[in-house]
Amino acid sequence: MTTSLSAANDAINHRLPVAKRWNGLIDAYRPYLPVTDSTPIISLCEGNTPLIPVPSIAAEIGRGVQVYIKYDGLNPTGSFKDRGMTMAVTKAKEAGAEAIICASTGNTSAAAAAYACRGGMRAFVLIPDGYVALGKLAQALLYGAEILAIKGNFDRALEIVREMSDNYPITLVNSVNPYRLQGQKTAAFEVVDVLGEAPDWLCIPVGNAGNISAYWMGFNEYYAEKRCTKLPKMMGFQASGSAPLVSGERVKNPETLATAIRIGNPANWQKALDVQAASGGQFNAVTDQEIIAAYRKLGGNEGIFCEPASAASVAGLLKVKDQVPMGATVVCVLTGNGLKDPDSAIQHSENQFHQGVDPELAAVAKVMGFA
Ligand code: F0G
Repeated sequence: MTTSLSAANDAINHRLPVAKRWNGLIDAYRPYLPVTDSTPIISLCEGNTPLIPVPSIAAEIGRGVQVYIKYDGLNPTGSFKDRGMTMAVTKAKEAGAEAIICASTGNTSAAAAAYACRGGMRAFVLIPDGYVALGKLAQALLYGAEILAIKGNFDRALEIVREMSDNYPITLVNSVNPYRLQGQKTAAFEVVDVLGEAPDWLCIPVGNAGNISAYWMGFNEYYAEKRCTKLPKMMGFQASGSAPLVSGERVKNPETLATAIRIGNPANWQKALDVQAASGGQFNAVTDQEIIAAYRKLGGNEGIFCEPASAASVAGLLKVKDQVPMGATVVCVLTGNGLKDPDSAIQHSENQFHQGVDPELAAVAKVMGFA
């Protein structure tokens, strides 16, 4: 059965023109990545996510500004982490690792679990007990990770896994692993490949500040190759209860409903400051209310479902909209899929949900306002 199914898949693949096949980001951007012909590529065909115009958000800003969403929630495990994980796990496999470890607010654990499974490795994940969205936990479980929910926050979990990988034969795949950023920089390549130029602004949610650093690296590499003629201003947004890069001080007890970015001591702190200085960018904080307002706008006005942390990029753009130059092109990164966290959607939706309707035509018509 398995054999005939894969034979059928091969037959289908062989009918597709080679140029139309997408075999993942390492295959697509190989010259820019640290792999050789003998590197065993561990991939789920991640990357190549859409850049979607969002006219209702652009209209709120006005002045001819164009706004696009880089919808990285459409990666195989539903977040941008797949970009970094294909590289990190590929390099771990190349080095002969048998196990990987990470701390996670959820998405990294899902991605680590999935890629470890593809690579035939064990995955250990440490998560803050009670602060991971249900969908992410479900993913890590199903992909077969060994999950340790610790009675502490993400920052503490990261300290522990760093020590674990220093002392035991296990590869750390958090964004302090440089291969993670190598993979994640390809999102910037994709943005430029579609726009034909770098945007004027890149708005992005920031937790550990790995992704903002990776995007900046990607834009710079393309700029050096003359694939774009400018570099964006990098605009990072944190949740106001977890905004160490805005206050300049470590947050001991970070809080926000955007649990993915509930981080008080970013691992890539210095890199983030460098990106801000080099790009002329800013770090700003958005409140949970602003995050939820943007989350609902994206869903209800644009048909785009992201998780709350992701909506921080759009909430932030709207907060500082008066600073956007006239006619600018802005890209907001939506880092994770809304399906990961259905509880938040149900809790924060004000749309009508008619429950307990009688299974009769007249009753249905009445509820719909036809009677
Ligand atoms: N958005 C989402 C949906 C995330 O899951 C994360 C980080 C970020 C943004 C922030 O990215 O850390 O590179 O600045 N999630 C990590 C995790 C911490 O464990 O899944 P960053």
